[in-house]
Amino acid sequence: MKAIVCTKYGPPEVLQLKEVEKPSPRKNEVCIKIFATAVTASDCIIRGFNVPGSLWLPMGLAVGFTKPRQPILGIVLAGEVESAGSDIRSFKKGDRVFGWDLFPAFGAYAEYKCMPEKGMLAIKPANVTYEEAAAIPYGGLLALHYLKKGNIQSGQKILIYGASGAVGTSAVQLARYFGAEVTGVCSTTNLEWVRSLGASTVIDYTKEDFTNREGTYDFIFDAVGKRKSSKFQGKKALTPYGKYISVDDGSPKPHIDDLILLKELLEAGKMRPVIDRIYPLEQMAEAHRYVDKGHKKGNVVITVEHNKT
Ligand SMILES: NC(=O)c1ccc[n+]([C@@H]2O[C@H](COP(=O)([O-])OP(=O)(O)OC[C@H]3O[C@@H](n4cnc5c(N)ncnc54)[C@H](OP(=O)(O)O)[C@@H]3O)[C@@H](O)[C@H]2O)c1
Repeated sequence: MKAIVCTKYGPPEVLQLKEVEKPSPRKNEVCIKIFATAVTASDCIIRGFNVPGSLWLPMGLAVGFTKPRQPILGIVLAGEVESAGSDIRSFKKGDRVFGWDLFPAFGAYAEYKCMPEKGMLAIKPANVTYEEAAAIPYGGLLALHYLKKGNIQSGQKILIYGASGAVGTSAVQLARYFGAEVTGVCSTTNLEWVRSLGASTVIDYTKEDFTNREGTYDFIFDAVGKRKSSKFQGKKALTPYGKYISVDDGSPKPHIDDLILLKELLEAGKMRPVIDRIYPLEQMAEAHRYVDKGHKKGNVVITVEHNKT
């Protein structure tokens, strides 16, 4: 099968299109024919091994020190169940699915990938395309994890910093769904469409420092981890019992119920996928170059074409 192999850590050019062996499902696994994946911020961090010194050892132990132990990167996928192991009960051949498989599994930059039945895999909503489905799990699951961690409540005033990225666009929509009053912080060009996702107020970070709005927010979620000013300073904008959470606080381990909730919200039209650009698998290095710039709007999706047999 075709796959993008990460030959060593480094710039996007280390990603090369190769022929590799097609995986076969174990008894408890399904093999998915992938039609779409996405280039996430995490993929770029791993490809470049761009981690702060304190994470160098744990990251190296988890994924490999000189090159990724699993050379096929890619966390999210949307596709069709091509075959199922003998113990599989909840999926069958032909099911259209979407999901994610965080490190050290990866493997979605390929034509096929095997996943355990009990993994983060669900039936794809019928009202979205494979490309749209691939744009949901990463930002959606991370945003849901942190909003729940912050115990988001209806009626709260929440500020989402970095509202235009993959995590931010999901966080805005989910916070609205939970009944919060949302303020989104983004740059000038993104103000109007962040508002269209459900933010009742938008702040342009190039013109205003939100920390000047002292004592305003019940919950601040830094969805992009790029705030130049410190968390301490950011906390000034909180109400006395407010919470401040950054996407870089810990390693989230989402639950399958979270993916099911995202599926239901998509089906009900209460959440929509946000896609910036779409590249074919063969242009993976180009897609990484774009995501490396740190200014994508929502998600960068990759389509996987299969040769007709
Ligand atoms: N803790 C964990 O385990 C974990 C797991 C996964 C991801 N993460 C982190 O989550 C973060 C978010 O991922 P993502 O995929 O959502 O990122 P992303 O989509 O790459 O973020 C791009 C967006 O960030 C905005 N942005 C860039 N600089 C900004 C700034 N100084 N202030 C406000 N917004 C800014 C850009 O808007 P403009 O173009 O308008 O600037 C752009 O829309 C990543 O940094 C990743 O490392 C953490």
